[in-house]
Amino acid sequence: MSRKLFEPFAIKDVTLKNRIVMSPMCMYSCEAEDGQVTNWHKTHYTSRAVGQVGLIVLEATAVHTQGRISMQDLGIWDDSHVDGLRTLTEMIHEQDAKVGIQLAHAGRKAIVEGPIYSSSPLPFNDDMEVPNEMTIEQIEETVEDFRLAARRSKEAGIDVIELHGAHGYLINQFLSPLINQRTDRYGGSKEKRFNFLKEIIEAVNTVWDGPLFVRISANDYNNEGYSVQDYVEYAQWMKELGVDLIDCSSGGVVPAKIKPYPGYQVQYAEALKKEAGIATGAVGMITSPLHAEAILQNDRADLIFLARELLRDPYWPRRAAIELKTEIESPRQYERGW
Ligand SMILES: Cc1cc2nc3c(=O)[nH]c(=O)nc-3n(C[C@H](O)[C@H](O)[C@H](O)COP(=O)(O)O)c2cc1C
Repeated sequence: MSRKLFEPFAIKDVTLKNRIVMSPMCMYSCEAEDGQVTNWHKTHYTSRAVGQVGLIVLEATAVHTQGRISMQDLGIWDDSHVDGLRTLTEMIHEQDAKVGIQLAHAGRKAIVEGPIYSSSPLPFNDDMEVPNEMTIEQIEETVEDFRLAARRSKEAGIDVIELHGAHGYLINQFLSPLINQRTDRYGGSKEKRFNFLKEIIEAVNTVWDGPLFVRISANDYNNEGYSVQDYVEYAQWMKELGVDLIDCSSGGVVPAKIKPYPGYQVQYAEALKKEAGIATGAVGMITSPLHAEAILQNDRADLIFLARELLRDPYWPRRAAIELKTEIESPRQYERGW
């Protein structure tokens, strides 16, 4: 029986073999604090490719040393990172999965040695450092950091770029009226708050013609902040700029109480898909194959992003195929046990 979860999905010239995506998850495993791919990354990501995940999105990968969430973050701020990323990509490709990378800058949420930056000099909470307000020159340099990171991603053979515009990290710190208090061309109105992301997308487009995703936080869980309708408009603008898919998460902009439940963010993927007419990914407490299949069959999203469930079970796609009474290919070496 054909199941939508196992139907291919084509974006530009990349075809994913199914709709199952490994959601980006920081591994904090660059023990040398140099941003280089380690054996852990190779084992961890390739295991999910053996498990038949269609698209593996590498964790938040820093475009600048000061944009790391932790000193152990994966990095792409230097040409020396390309070789390790290429090896990792080749290992995942050998297992017939596609590779995405989440390009990230943590802004005021960076926990690193040295200065940290944001759209405005407001700390995330009382325990965090007060960030420096970025000058126009620093903003332009950061846009260039994203462009260079996209060029390096291409050199490493990566299939999909995802820009991290969610969870209150730097791009989100420009988008959100709760943080961005600027009065120059990067703040003061919804359009101007979008300019930082717009310039990043345009810069990436000069070196990258593959699938481009953006992860957003569709709800700030704050009365003064953004909700999904604001992101419907942003998604329309992103679509016009050539973004292919919006990966719909929520929260992280300011401290907030969130009460998650299975599929609690699917409503955002559905709203953006229907109202902005753009492909979307659903993420957040999706663990059951039937639930994943229902989201796709009801046309609420195009891709299913799984995070913690894939930490618990790297072979989730195989389990899903059994539960959904469909057959998927096994790695040749595993045929006798599949
Ligand atoms: C260990 C861990 C690390 C994460 N790191 C990232 C990250 O690098 N980038 C990101 O956008 N989200 C990150 N997330 C969030 C996940 O991608 C996902 O959105 C969230 O866990 C909800 O999905 P789930 O219920 O399937 O786990 C992380 C989550 C976990 C558990």
